[in-house]
Amino acid sequence: MYTQTLVSLVAAASTVLAAPHLHKHIRAEPKCPIVFDGRVPLNTAPTFFDTYATNTIFNPDYVKGNDIKWSEILKFPNDTSRFDGDKYTAVEVTLSDKSIFQKQNGFRRAGLQFLKDASDGEGGKGVKTLHWSVKQDPARPLNLTHEYLNVWHEAGDYSSNQIQFQAGSIIGKSNADKNNFKILDRNGAQLYTIPIDQKNWQNFALKLDYNKNQVTVYYSVGAAELKAVSTNKSANLAGGGQFQLGILKKPTGSTDVVNNGYQSKNLNEGQIYGGIFLEDSADGCVSL
Ligand SMILES: *[C@@H]1O[C@H](CO)[C@@H](O)[C@H](O)[C@H]1NC(C)=O
Ligand SMILES: *[C@@H]1O[C@H](CO)[C@@H](O)[C@H](O)[C@H]1NC(C)=O
Ligand SMILES: *[C@@H]1O[C@H](CO)[C@@H](O)[C@H](O)[C@H]1NC(C)=O
Repeated sequence: MYTQTLVSLVAAASTVLAAPHLHKHIRAEPKCPIVFDGRVPLNTAPTFFDTYATNTIFNPDYVKGNDIKWSEILKFPNDTSRFDGDKYTAVEVTLSDKSIFQKQNGFRRAGLQFLKDASDGEGGKGVKTLHWSVKQDPARPLNLTHEYLNVWHEAGDYSSNQIQFQAGSIIGKSNADKNNFKILDRNGAQLYTIPIDQKNWQNFALKLDYNKNQVTVYYSVGAAELKAVSTNKSANLAGGGQFQLGILKKPTGSTDVVNNGYQSKNLNEGQIYGGIFLEDSADGCVSL
């Protein structure tokens, strides 16, 4: 009797204790060679992102408002996504009225570029898989009446984005899918779409086969394993260039979106990112 009680007590205790372990266990480590690591170590000082002297992860100069520092743009919610594990943390990219880059008065933008990425660099060659997770901040919602670019690879000559992860109302298209994320090729053809989840992490990976001009999209929610949701879709990936992750908000009511158009005042918007990295998939490896 006593033994029985003890056994069930131990069993009950281990069930309780198992919960946090299970939670940790279902997070994942990247398993392929990392080409660019954009994961932010826990307890990184915001000012780390402001200068080349400290910032070993992203380009400190691009792409952001002229009169605002990364330490003012980036927020650090106490949260982690599937590939952040115990050592990395979420980073939120925000927009304000100061988010005007150079003389691009139509856009509001703040985009992270991997420090080691270059227009003719490794990121645009071979077979690479870009990973990122996103979560919405109820205190800084996006205004989905507008078109947003959130993650993309921009060709070296800046003439187009070979692949783009977008939100909101795409200019010139129906806004029926404005509450969805959309992954589009450089011609605007849709490779995948999924509703924006206002509560949970959404994890994405894009395998870019620059040799075969093929794209595979992987997706999962929360801490779940990624699954291929769109496989070996043809897309013209030529032209090199660089990745960018953040927010580029286009204006409304403009035919010259870079330079003019309507943007509401007192902007306070954000997109939370986690688990950002680019891995080498030349041998077929993709972290799931
Ligand atoms: C961060 O969140 C964890 C659990 O989610 C909590 O234990 C910890 O106290 C939080 N840290 C801060 C600084 O709020
Ligand atoms: C969203 O954007 C539209 C178009 O710019 C604007 O009219 C509206 O006021 C914005 N909504 C909020 C909540 O800012
Ligand atoms: C996609 O392409 C890869 C590499 O070329 C190949 O190994 C795989 O079998 C293809 N998958 C499908 C479902 O066609």
